[in-house]
This record gives sequence, structure tokens and C-alpha cells, in this order.
Amino acid sequence: MTQNNPVKVGVIGCGNISDIYLTNAQWLNTIEVVGVTDLRISMAEAQAEKYNIPTVYPSVDAMLADPEIEMVLNITHPAAHGAVAQAAVDAGKSVYNEKPLTLNRDEGEKLVASAKAARVLVGCAPDTFLGAAHQTARKMIDDGAIGKLVSANAFMMSWGMEMWHPNPEFYFKEGGGPMFDMGPYYLTDLVFLMGSVHSVSGMVTTGRKKRTITSEPLNGTIIDVEVPTHVSGMMRFNNGAVGTIVQSFDIAGSELPHIEIHGDKGSLSVPDPNRFGGQLRIRKGGSREWEDVPLTHSYTENSRGLGLADMARALRSKDAHRANGDIAYHVLDLMHAFHDSSETGMNIVLKSSCDRPAPMPTDAFLGQNPKTSG
Ligand SMILES: NC(=O)c1ccc[n+]([C@@H]2O[C@H](COP(=O)([O-])OP(=O)(O)OC[C@H]3O[C@@H](n4cnc5c(N)ncnc54)[C@H](O)[C@@H]3O)[C@@H](O)[C@H]2O)c1
Repeated sequence: MTQNNPVKVGVIGCGNISDIYLTNAQWLNTIEVVGVTDLRISMAEAQAEKYNIPTVYPSVDAMLADPEIEMVLNITHPAAHGAVAQAAVDAGKSVYNEKPLTLNRDEGEKLVASAKAARVLVGCAPDTFLGAAHQTARKMIDDGAIGKLVSANAFMMSWGMEMWHPNPEFYFKEGGGPMFDMGPYYLTDLVFLMGSVHSVSGMVTTGRKKRTITSEPLNGTIIDVEVPTHVSGMMRFNNGAVGTIVQSFDIAGSELPHIEIHGDKGSLSVPDPNRFGGQLRIRKGGSREWEDVPLTHSYTENSRGLGLADMARALRSKDAHRANGDIAYHVLDLMHAFHDSSETGMNIVLKSSCDRPAPMPTDAFLGQNPKTSG
């Protein structure tokens, strides 16, 4: 059930990922999607009809000129994230981007600063860290279950996107690659759990310079790969702990875990940060067994849009939201820093930092995901 006075949202970009946002907007209780637009206007028309959305705007400018729109959901391609979000802020709207926040640091820094000056909100995916498994992991850490944090590992080992995405070229152009595409899930979760990062080192390589699309409708099309497709990095967190991250589109098979957090009393095995739920496990120092941890929070199923709904809640209550521009900018800075370190051979001290977003209360309620039982 939608709360009184939900925030009116306009959606820019009606491609592949728009379905889950528009599906979940039907139960997220702080938002109401009132309009859509896309460069390919037929895509916007189709989604408006499918999801019963009242207005199809002929252009981004037309949407931004409408005073009814309070918040923009920007789910365009990464290369358009910065310009579209900046236009929204300049028009006095709050904006929530798909990840990455922007392509480069200058765009991201300007976006976050100008939103603060204009007193509008900037948010950014991923919001999977608001899901049950990651919130429970944070509670375990905050409750001292693994003691003082010592280290973390994060691995995304895949073969690429050209086998399933209908239009996968953007994954292999500027703004794409495994670190910019999947790194936000892993890094956002690490920063949420461990805190901000002080410095990093990185090394990158490209396994295949050309990729053949095998998904439909572009089956057989060759993509020229213009970005690194394997990134290895090391991090020192501001709390003194160290981390290792590998993000790859060049791995045919691997048995490495998604995320592990190690403390001086035990280890946490954190499930896939691209998902909201999954099995969280703990192993106490000296024990031979992993133990399953019961989840203490809600949202175990695909609840993409939760971060947008949390931002809408914060817009009304005038307090902080979690998937915010500060953590998204720190993650953007980190992703660039791994690549910069590889190019220069230097350890990079980050210029950005951020607070750990506040944990969700165990009884947080932003709507009932119908896919979750109980
Ligand atoms: N597809 C996924 O599973 C997935 C998952 C997580 C995140 N994302 C992110 O979501 C975003 C969109 O991905 P997608 O898979 O939906 O891509 P897509 O190509 O299917 O859709 C993007 C849409 O944005 C529109 N668009 C691009 N620039 C625009 C502009 N300036 N103004 C208006 N419309 C514009 C395009 O016409 C297209 O319809 C990307 O940032 C991607 O990283 C995608």
C-alpha cells in the first residue's frame, strides 16, 4: 500500500533494467511513477502501457520542465548518467542514477556538490546492500560477532555479458568493463560493511580484444573491446583493515567466494552483493565449521528500487538516505583509482571519503515485496 503523499517519480531510460524498477515501483510505498521517457520513444510508450503509467514525455527536457516530477530515476546508459542527472539537478529535481554514478570524477563531484547547493538529493544504485543478507552482515559486524576487522576479499569472476544482454556493446566501451559495471556492487557492500578506503593499488588487463555477441537479436556481431576486462586491486581501509578485489569478464570458471570479511574473532561469508538475500555464514576463530546465520532483516528477493524508495522517504522526512551520492562518489573514485594505479604503477591515496551509510532498522518497511513470503 502506498503511503500518503508518495514522491512523484519520472523515469528516464526504458531499456532492459526498467522492468524490475517499474514492477517494484508498484509495491514500494514512498514513490509513485507518474511519467517515463527514452531517446527511443517507442520504448517509453511500451513501458507506459505495460505498467499503466499516465504520461510519456517526448523528451528529457519536457519531463524536467514538469513541476509535478519531484524525483528522477535515471536508468540510461552509463555514458549518459552524468549529463542526464546534472540536467535533473539543474531543474531542481532530486535524482537517483543507476550505477556508476557518472563516467568520470569531475562529473560526479560536480553533480554531488551542485545537488547539495540546490538542496536536492542524489542517490545511486546499487541498493542491494539494503537487502536482508547485507544488513544482517552489518549487524553481525556492529554487534562484534567477528571482532576487530582485519581484512576482506571480493571476487566477481565472470566470462562477460555478450551471451545474455540484448544490446551488450556498452559493457566494453568507456564506462563499462567489470570494475565499472559490477565493481559498484562489491565496493558499495565493502564500504557499507568496512567503512571508507584510504588507498589502493591495481593492475588491469584485457583478455580478448574482440567479443562476439551470442545473444539475440545481435547474434554474430563483433564488439571491439575498448576497456580493461580484468581488474585486480588491493585496498587499505581507513580503519586499518586491508582488502583484495578482483572483477573480471575473463574468467571461464572459478570457485572463489563473492565476499568474505575477516575479523580477529571470526570470518563472515557474505553472499552475492548483486542480490538482496542469500545465505550468510559465520566461522568463529579456531572452529572447523561454518554456521548459517539467520537473517534479521527484510528484503531477501529482488527489491531493486529500495534505495530510490529510501531516498523518497528521506526527501519527505528530511533526513539521510543510504544509497547516497557520497558513497556512490567514493565508489566511483575507487574504481578509477584501481585503473590509475595500473597505469602509473603507483599506490593511489584517495581524495574522497564517506561515512558508512546507517544500517536499516530491523523493522524498516518500505512496502511488501510480493515475492517474499510471510
Ligand atoms: N540490464 C541489467 O541487468 C542491469 C543491471 C543492473 C544495472 N544496470 C544498469 O542500468 C543502466 C541501463 O541498463 P540497461 O541494461 O537497461 O540498458 P538498455 O540499453 O537496455 O537501456 C537503456 C535505455 O536508456 C535510453 N537512453 C540512453 N541515453 C538516454 C538519454 N540521454 N536520454 C533518454 N534515454 C536514454 C536508451 O535509449 C535505452 O532504451 C546501465 O547503467 C546499467 O549499468 C543494468
